[in-house]
Amino acid sequence: MQVIPDIEILDDPGRAPARGRAGASWKPEELDRARTTSMEAEGHRRVYIETYGCQMNVSDSEIVASVLRENGFGLTRNEEEADVVLLNTCAIRENAEQKVRRRLRDFRRRKRASGSAAGGPALRLGVLGCMAERLRARLLEEEQLVDLVVGPDAYRDLPRLLHETDDTGQAAVNVHLSREETYADIAPIRYDTNGVSAFVSIMRGCDNMCSFCVVPFTRGRERSRPASSILSECARLAEAGYKEVTVLGQNVNSYRFEEEGACVDFAELLRRISFVSPELRIRYSTSHPKDCSDDLLRLHRERRNVCNYIHLPVQHGNSEVLERMRRTYSREEYLALVERARALAPGISLSTDIIAGFCGETEAQHRDTLSLMEAVRYDYAYTFMYSERPDTYAARKYKDDVPEDVKKRRLGEIIALQQRISLERNQEEVGREHVALVEGESKRSDRQLCGRTDTNKMVVFDREAYATGDYVRVRITGCTSATLLGDPLGRETLLECAASAAA
Ligand code: SAH
Ligand code: SF4
Ligand code: F3S
Repeated sequence: MQVIPDIEILDDPGRAPARGRAGASWKPEELDRARTTSMEAEGHRRVYIETYGCQMNVSDSEIVASVLRENGFGLTRNEEEADVVLLNTCAIRENAEQKVRRRLRDFRRRKRASGSAAGGPALRLGVLGCMAERLRARLLEEEQLVDLVVGPDAYRDLPRLLHETDDTGQAAVNVHLSREETYADIAPIRYDTNGVSAFVSIMRGCDNMCSFCVVPFTRGRERSRPASSILSECARLAEAGYKEVTVLGQNVNSYRFEEEGACVDFAELLRRISFVSPELRIRYSTSHPKDCSDDLLRLHRERRNVCNYIHLPVQHGNSEVLERMRRTYSREEYLALVERARALAPGISLSTDIIAGFCGETEAQHRDTLSLMEAVRYDYAYTFMYSERPDTYAARKYKDDVPEDVKKRRLGEIIALQQRISLERNQEEVGREHVALVEGESKRSDRQLCGRTDTNKMVVFDREAYATGDYVRVRITGCTSATLLGDPLGRETLLECAASAAA
């Protein structure tokens, strides 16, 4: 059934799986490593790709795999048998970069050994993605033996750059940021063995310039991909048996594309995707609160297959800090948006990103974050300690003056509070019914399956005769702060859900 080549993410134990969840995997540097599967590599040079960072990077690695395969390279999941190793990197926080540097050191040792092995060509080592863009030439000096440095808009150039470094023996670099590139015509090779959930990138770059954030520097100006190419990719996925797409961008709700004289905004794009197939569920990530329109919020209620879940990063609970973060909304405006979302899309679940210990944050301001969390009662939160990023507005204008131990303590308080709230939110679900899309076996037992509700909660239930890709109605019987437990009641289609909701 599945015609799109397979893809696999290897989970690190204890971590949430990376795929198929809007926002839910949005803990950038901790995202699981993605590895390409073996694909007819015989007689070809084999490329091994390891992916760090956000869902956009996972999606980009799928583009890289496609570009290389089209140009005669084989792909491998086994780093030992690779001729070319590519690390698709993240620069969002200092520790994300450190992790990549450690990996680079491992591969450098192997590269030296491969270089001295009799006759064989040396291993080629490349850095792609956001660190490539941020560090450019410095990466070549500091990390000698890196052969390729390729920024996120230059992946079409990879085959040429690989040949160039072969020919010259010198490192090849392309970190040009484009105002147009969206890779719209490239069919990604999906690293998804379950064939159920896929990422579809709809825009690139970010123009928001939040003062703490490196993304506008690593990804360049915001640009939207043509709606028609997004819709045909979604249609191909539905034909191939996929049941869920997560449309991706740094700020999806500023999506805007003019085609045939008409302007398609994000709400309109989602509406069109929702008509691709009634059985294809749609999520999106990430949305900036500043342009979350009522049309968009209403769509969650109007279209059954637009999931009732939004990842809506607040970053902080104090208006003065939000101003210094350049988020362009106040605490009160954000709380009003949450109220509107809950009025227009009843039952919608919400998750968020929060930064602890931003420049100048006082104890009282930190407590405002805690009180905002109590007021909103998020279903889930991704929480980070502030990490200063060179060149950002905050690095240039503010002092990173909250001591490390205070940042840690504040982050600890935020995490503990969210765990309590997540548990309470999940307890409210006990006794309710949900329709879960089965993603695969539960981690604990092969006699149980796990799937996600419309509201993006993971639910575990007995396998019985159900299979990956089924929509299953479940009654919730118990929970932890991270997972729901349920009894399966029967297979469903989304059309049946719509009919029962209308009845
Ligand atoms: N475009 C998304 C965010 C992408 S980065 C949005 O605007 O919502 C994902 C998260 O990383 C951010 O939401 C923020 O919480 C966190 N982050 C970004 N820069 C950071 C920094 N310098 N230090 C700590 N966390 C940071
Ligand atoms: Fe960074 Fe802000 Fe853009 Fe998100 S919206 S990527 S936090 S600059
Ligand atoms: Fe990291 Fe770049 Fe994503 S900095 S979070 S991989 S856009």
